[in-house]
Amino acid sequence: MSHKIFKPMVFAVGLLAVLTYSQTASAEMASAETLSATCAGCHGPAGSSLGPATPTIAGITQDYFMSSMNDYISGDRKSTVMSRIAKGYSQDELKIMADYFASQKIVRYAQDVDAAKVEKGRKLFQDYCEKCHENDGYLADGIGVMAGQTKQYLHFMVNDFFSGDREWSKKQKNKMQALMDDHGPDGYDAVIDYMASKQ
Ligand code: HEC
Ligand code: HEC
Repeated sequence: MSHKIFKPMVFAVGLLAVLTYSQTASAEMASAETLSATCAGCHGPAGSSLGPATPTIAGITQDYFMSSMNDYISGDRKSTVMSRIAKGYSQDELKIMADYFASQKIVRYAQDVDAAKVEKGRKLFQDYCEKCHENDGYLADGIGVMAGQTKQYLHFMVNDFFSGDREWSKKQKNKMQALMDDHGPDGYDAVIDYMASKQ
């Protein structure tokens, strides 16, 4: 007897749950898009940068997104504009954007590179960088996007590490310093052209 009442009730409750869920999900989707629309002017459509100096942020992991934004807020990571921008969002809003950008596919736009530098950079990248920037710079876990990242941004970040505007681990510093000692700024030019050549 309870069977007859029970079944429709389960159905109704289930339906309600589905409706509530999809409503919340679509509300969140909408706000993810609204929130991230502000970023598109500089970071490109859905986070894939058209250059020249702003980085691609499509496909970066939630962890890397959150630590970057919180480092901008605290001032641990110096920036030209991001500190002011990051301070405008709550942690919940940042998390919504972290999910949004992590789920976007990276579009790598063609950049001007020098073929000889690309070849030189391929070898140097293997020797000095690949250990952490795995899979030829394509693996973005915890590190941001290297393969296909905008050239000017990569140059800025290398300078920021050397000037102390951005913190680096001891191992990171050792390897980056070694490339500088062994090959100088030309070595970095080559590695960056190699990274920028990636499609
Ligand atoms: C006015 C241009 C501008 C806008 C708008 C902007 N950014 Fe940025 N963003 C930059 C620049 C330039 C950098 C490099 C750091 C710096 O100099 O501030 C950067 C760096 C970043 C980084 C670090 C990427 C990495 O690989 O380490 C993240 C993450 C980021 N921005 C997220 C966002 C988000 C999310 C929004 C929107 C809420 C946004 N940005 C809006 C210009 C902008
Ligand atoms: C021991 C590991 C390690 C090595 C070796 C290493 N890196 Fe990194 N690199 C990192 C980590 C970790 C980060 C992210 C730092 C952070 O979270 O702020 C990073 C970030 C970067 C960034 C900034 C990326 C972004 O999106 O903002 C650049 C540029 C970079 N590395 C260049 C290089 C180059 C060039 C080499 C080789 C000469 C190199 N790295 C070698 C660990 C390493």
